[in-house]
Amino acid sequence: MSFAAPGDFIPLADVAARAIPAGPVLGAEIVGLDLREPLSPDAVSAVRGALLRFKVLFFRDQDISHRDHIRFGRHFGDLEGHPVTTHVEGHPEILSIEAADGLKLTESVLPIARPANKWHTDVTFREAPSMAGILRMRRMPELGGDTIFADTAAIYEDLPPQIKDKIETLEAEHDILQSFGYRVSDEKRAELRRNYPPKAHPIVRTHPETGERHLFVNHVFTTRILGLPDNESAELLKYLTDRVKAPEYQVRFRWSENTIVFWDNRATQHYAVLDYWPHDRLVERVTVKGDKPYRAPLAKRSTAIVADQFVEAAAG
Ligand code: SIN
Repeated sequence: MSFAAPGDFIPLADVAARAIPAGPVLGAEIVGLDLREPLSPDAVSAVRGALLRFKVLFFRDQDISHRDHIRFGRHFGDLEGHPVTTHVEGHPEILSIEAADGLKLTESVLPIARPANKWHTDVTFREAPSMAGILRMRRMPELGGDTIFADTAAIYEDLPPQIKDKIETLEAEHDILQSFGYRVSDEKRAELRRNYPPKAHPIVRTHPETGERHLFVNHVFTTRILGLPDNESAELLKYLTDRVKAPEYQVRFRWSENTIVFWDNRATQHYAVLDYWPHDRLVERVTVKGDKPYRAPLAKRSTAIVADQFVEAAAG
């Protein structure tokens, strides 16, 4: 894991843009790019390198259109929709996410939604969960509604050796119904069960580009650890999914109008803070398709080595 220093101001290779670390562990604000324009191949490489290095990138003051949002996403791969969350009219690639992961807030929903554990990596119920999410703030409350991101490699790195040994070859099951099942009709639930049977993923996931190892279970979608008795599975899963709550692994992002946030969904979890009721919050997400998670047996490469291909060292 590489730590950012306060005041770092890192030029991105080959483009007139800078990454300003937003926290010591993960996150950086990118300045000097206009996302209303197509990015040059150099700029795409630079942003991808910064994403690998910082895991979540913040672009402020980007009043982009829906087409710009989609084009930016396509620079990094094919896009996908979502089987439950609604999308922007005319744009199936842009999810329209209100309040608690698309669940409309009401006085009666609030006492359940507000204290719920909302930490997750997106769509881990898929065989190949997404590579990245690109979120645009559309309607924000005057106060609150921050999003918190956590570095799942840092979490893995700090696990006690006996836990690392225990989970090394284990897989866990991820199920869409755990998160979305209770809020859809019986018919829709049956359809989701048919189209999205539970998927097993390694608990230790190797990042396909950096080689870093990540803890790959989350509270929202992971239901059980395979091959363990129910009580042992539940106890270990709770221990593992609770690690993300430690502030040491997090960066908390305070939104401003027209900000775009781009996270590496293979390397992070996130949490949208639901503290703004009765005010309103609406975000729009473009989702970049990913690949099937795997665990490479202890073949670790440092992120810094990969990122150095794209991010120059700070001058002087
Ligand atoms: C998401 O989980 O994609 C949305 C996060 C947010 O609303 O901040």
